[in-house]
Amino acid sequence: MTRTGIEALSFYTPHRYISLKTLAEHHGIDPAKFSNGIGQDMIALPGHDEDIVTMAAEAARPIIEKYGRDDIDTVMLATETGIDQSKAASIYVHQLLNLQSNCRCVELKQACYSATPALQMACSYVARKPNKKVLVIASDVARYDLDSSGEATQGAGAVAMLVSSQPKTLEIGTTSGVFSEDIMDFWRPNDRRTPLFDGKFSALRYLNALVEAWKDYQVNGGKSYDEFSHFCYHLPFSRMGDKANRHLAKNAGHALNKETAENGLLYNRIIGNSYTASLYIALISTLDNAKDDLTGKSIGLFSYGSGASAEFFDATVSKNYQEHLFINRHKDILNERTAVNYEEYKELWNAPKVNPEGETIFSDEARGRYRLAKIDDNKRIYIDKQAQ
Ligand code: CAA
Repeated sequence: MTRTGIEALSFYTPHRYISLKTLAEHHGIDPAKFSNGIGQDMIALPGHDEDIVTMAAEAARPIIEKYGRDDIDTVMLATETGIDQSKAASIYVHQLLNLQSNCRCVELKQACYSATPALQMACSYVARKPNKKVLVIASDVARYDLDSSGEATQGAGAVAMLVSSQPKTLEIGTTSGVFSEDIMDFWRPNDRRTPLFDGKFSALRYLNALVEAWKDYQVNGGKSYDEFSHFCYHLPFSRMGDKANRHLAKNAGHALNKETAENGLLYNRIIGNSYTASLYIALISTLDNAKDDLTGKSIGLFSYGSGASAEFFDATVSKNYQEHLFINRHKDILNERTAVNYEEYKELWNAPKVNPEGETIFSDEARGRYRLAKIDDNKRIYIDKQAQ
């Protein structure tokens, strides 16, 4: 069978954040509730000229620069914060990255889960067409109502994965455990910019879905618990990863080793929720922050999307994977950021009013190469600053 998986993967997050200490101070609550109770220190904040498209293109840029664009014939963009009800965001990304026109572009949705079926479908596709590559991108802006219980779990980010029959970073296993149920734990009707949610219920259903997906993974002949050196979880907030890790160990009948998930939580703690991207930021965080060589190690991955659909699957770290990581770029992206005060945060949180009949021009704030320059007659105009 053709080995398939991730040739390279990279993330992007915007250059501004609000510290959760600032948020706690504003609300007059103990900052330890956020740092310990929720496990978050910062919330990444996109500017008005940044969105899922600009973050997606910026996440993919280093991959395109290093591995080229010629073999990519499919772009799958997973998001739950889509910018159009009809046109796929991947078409804008395809244009910004100058990919060949003989390429299919789609957008996938199922809350925070859809990057995982995109990755699985991409693996199946390249098994059939080993000379082709698929760009799978997860990109989201997690925005909750101000003063709501979800406010501390906002964030933004994108992950791009080059999926191919040369899995130079991670080989994706062919066994999966899946689980779905029709519940209202978190959802966003078409006319809303922010989601509706039942926070405590959603956390309980997440843990239930983890056990059900794990059981299905075992039934389908998956690896045993002690074959895994690391676990990565969907991270709406990093403490959820701790809870999931404990819950899985207990249900699999093993003692908890906190270290199996610890490195995966590091980046999310200072980015916040990035919905579809958060599991894959956890995966990058695990690889980037490993002290030891992870070659040959098995990583268990749990993907959860409210509503709900979930999957447990595995990845095996490839030989010489270190040559395909973007550690320095990731560290720069995280280190070269600016904290904003509460007033600036509110200004970023509120979307500018778009003129439906004319032009709305956005000031140049994005640190990356790509930005949303304007919305003209309801058409989004993105630019590559270096092509200007
Ligand atoms: N010091 C330390 N810890 C403190 C504290 C303090 N001073 N004050 C409170 N805490 C602890 C609490 O004991 C609690 O810990 P446990 O979870 O161990 O009980 C924790 O901080 C959270 O506090 P609350 O129980 O008061 O919870 P909250 O009302 O602030 O809500 C939340 C927390 C439910 C996660 C809320 O932020 C939320 O609804 N978020 C959005 C929904 C969400 O993320 N759901 C996750 C599953 S669904 C999913 O994964 C999809 C997705 O991406 C959204």
